[in-house]
Amino acid sequence: MATLALTALCEETVAFVKEAGSFIRKEFKNFDTSRIENKGRSNDLVSYVDKETEKILVEGLRKILPDAGFIGEEGASEEGKDGIQWVIDPLDGTTNFLHGMPTFCISVALIQQKTVLVGVVYEINLDECFYAWQGGGAYLNGNKISVSSVDEVSKALIATGFPYSMRGKTDAYFDIIKELVNGSHGLRRLGSAAVDLCYVACGRFEAYFEYNIHIWDIAAGVLIVQEAGGKVTDYAGGDDYLSGRELLSAGPLHQEILTIIQKHW
Ligand code: IPD
Ligand code: CA
Ligand code: CA
Repeated sequence: MATLALTALCEETVAFVKEAGSFIRKEFKNFDTSRIENKGRSNDLVSYVDKETEKILVEGLRKILPDAGFIGEEGASEEGKDGIQWVIDPLDGTTNFLHGMPTFCISVALIQQKTVLVGVVYEINLDECFYAWQGGGAYLNGNKISVSSVDEVSKALIATGFPYSMRGKTDAYFDIIKELVNGSHGLRRLGSAAVDLCYVACGRFEAYFEYNIHIWDIAAGVLIVQEAGGKVTDYAGGDDYLSGRELLSAGPLHQEILTIIQKHW
């Protein structure tokens, strides 16, 4: 594939993702809860809205970049030329959506092997579009954003998520949470990993960490945090966060939180 013009590609992706968001916005108004489906575990939910949105996204993104493949939460899977793939979470915050809670988004990233080239997260109800391209900075609705300069956990607002499956780590996880709740301005659980990452990128949160997450939850948000000057690692402090299922993202207090996580993990 020829060298990609990432700025223009990001702009085109932003415009399209916002357009796709109107389908979710419309369905949210009259969603019929009898149409909630279950993915296996009783707390892992899905609906026709997730599936239809993924179809809309695949169709539109294919027009933007015909040679790229796909990794989608609802099953899209294609390799693509030169390792280039769109990574799609059509509705991040599904449980919020299904319960009438307003925090959810579309998350779309363009990756080449393990490098994220473009990331777009559209939080539909606030009409806030966060985006970044490699080397180009991070933006919220056209304005450049950067991570918080707070450098102490004691002055931080921190976000996390509770994985659908705790994978035997419940006690360790709650020990981390106990220490952070007692030692910070507070802990939030919004219900959308992609939104959590974007709120770190624009300084609303000082940090976000979670485990048992998937590449579609975080690929776009990771680039947005990094381009906003933040640091992203796995719980070992390494760079296996895209597919490694655990992630810590933060500004200057990254090391302080990493030390707390490692003490209990
Ligand atoms: C979930 C959300 C949630 C996080 C879960 C994710 P979904 O994605 O991002 O905040 O805690 O780990 O699976 O199911 O709403 O797309
Ligand atoms: Ca998700
Ligand atoms: Ca989803």
